[in-house]
Amino acid sequence: MDQIVIRGGQRLKGRIPISGAKNAALTLLPCALLTDEPLTLRNLPRLADVDGFGHLLNQLGCSTTIEGSRPEDFGRVMTARTTTLTSTVAPYDIVRKMRASILVLGPLLARAGEATVSLPGGCAIGNRPIDLHLKALEAFGAEIELASGYVKAVAPGGRLKGGKFTFPVVSVGATENAVMAAVLAQGTCVLENAAREPEIVDLCNCLVAMGASIDGIGTETLTIEGVDRLHGATYRVMADRIEAGSYACAAVITEGDVELVGAKASEMEATLSALRQAGATVEESKTGIRVAMSGRADPVTLSTAPYPGFATDMQAQFMAMATLGSGASLFTETIFENRYMHVPELARMGCDIDVRGRSAVVRGVDHLVGAPVMATDLRASMSLIIAGLAAQGTTEVNRVYHLDRGYERLEEKLQAVGADIERISAG
Ligand code: EPZ
Repeated sequence: MDQIVIRGGQRLKGRIPISGAKNAALTLLPCALLTDEPLTLRNLPRLADVDGFGHLLNQLGCSTTIEGSRPEDFGRVMTARTTTLTSTVAPYDIVRKMRASILVLGPLLARAGEATVSLPGGCAIGNRPIDLHLKALEAFGAEIELASGYVKAVAPGGRLKGGKFTFPVVSVGATENAVMAAVLAQGTCVLENAAREPEIVDLCNCLVAMGASIDGIGTETLTIEGVDRLHGATYRVMADRIEAGSYACAAVITEGDVELVGAKASEMEATLSALRQAGATVEESKTGIRVAMSGRADPVTLSTAPYPGFATDMQAQFMAMATLGSGASLFTETIFENRYMHVPELARMGCDIDVRGRSAVVRGVDHLVGAPVMATDLRASMSLIIAGLAAQGTTEVNRVYHLDRGYERLEEKLQAVGADIERISAG
């Protein structure tokens, strides 16, 4: 297994190109199942999870072709076409490795009137139930059966029908599955307390480009008028607001000055506000967002929340940034029950973090010491990279396959702004 080795202490200075958003790509790809015409996605990030989703689509009968891109380019263009489905089953061996596979459930139901998808099971950050996905689909007429670790869903008569569902808890994935199921239903589907993440706006905009009728995009109430068929489209994946926020934290902890090229401030206001709370200079520029810092970060008090609140996917990265801050910062993780896996690893680098249930107090220390550390999940891995960039000495991050799921060519991007970082391939 590869590892990433960082010799800390370099200030990051320069431009970091932000790639297409992983969490937008993973909900745009299954849209290719909704039509027999080609869907072309531009600015698709080069990520393990995107590749994995492409393989899953292939197993269902969707052909995917990647247009040639120069090695130095970030992002790719993929055209996906499901002329006819050859399967409506998403098997356990794929779903267990990539939870986002559950996002084929809604599209398969909409296109074929049936779907058999393995229950995704939990992951490092929590048990990750899908009950809300299933309840929303039932509200649109789906008949759901759970058997031998699989969800078997059927649309009576082959087509879902109009209905209304109010989410008791905001769920990104359940909103995405429900929207993709509703676009071909017979009638009007209404989703209340829907998630409002920018990735869902991207999904809705892509579906509208394919001929769907969706009102309330970007709000918590989505009204979807089912249509008989969708057509192909060409759509550009939004910039990754979490990748951008992650590199912003790296800039702050190294007292650097970086330009996050392609990042959109309007999609990451909570992150930018938290960076300003930490004392960073944050300025929108013509090509993205500039983040600069001198001195130690000021203490922050942050509680994760559904969009437009502070993103849970930014918690670990901000915590790493706060480890060298002045004073004590307080984090509260309200979305997932086990999202502090990075804390024991950060502690190995000399961080002073006290976890009490859903909250964690981070007391700034004078310096961090590089150490061998273990990545446990995607965003925890990034927090270790961020700490390693500022630590004295060498940090070796192991199990970097976690990172490769969500950060396109991370070491190249960081090398280009002055980090002393390299990937050691374990063969
Ligand atoms: C998406 O996961 C993202 N993944 C996650 O990003 C992100 O952390 C999360 O949204 C929250 O923003 C993708 O988009 C591929 P949820 P998702 O459904 O959809 C509970 C990353 O690092 N819940 O919004 O699985 C759930 O347990 C990843 O890029 C139910 O109870 O998240 C959690 O407590 C990690 N029942 C809360 O809702 C359900 O049926 C929010 O989960 C579904 C969810």
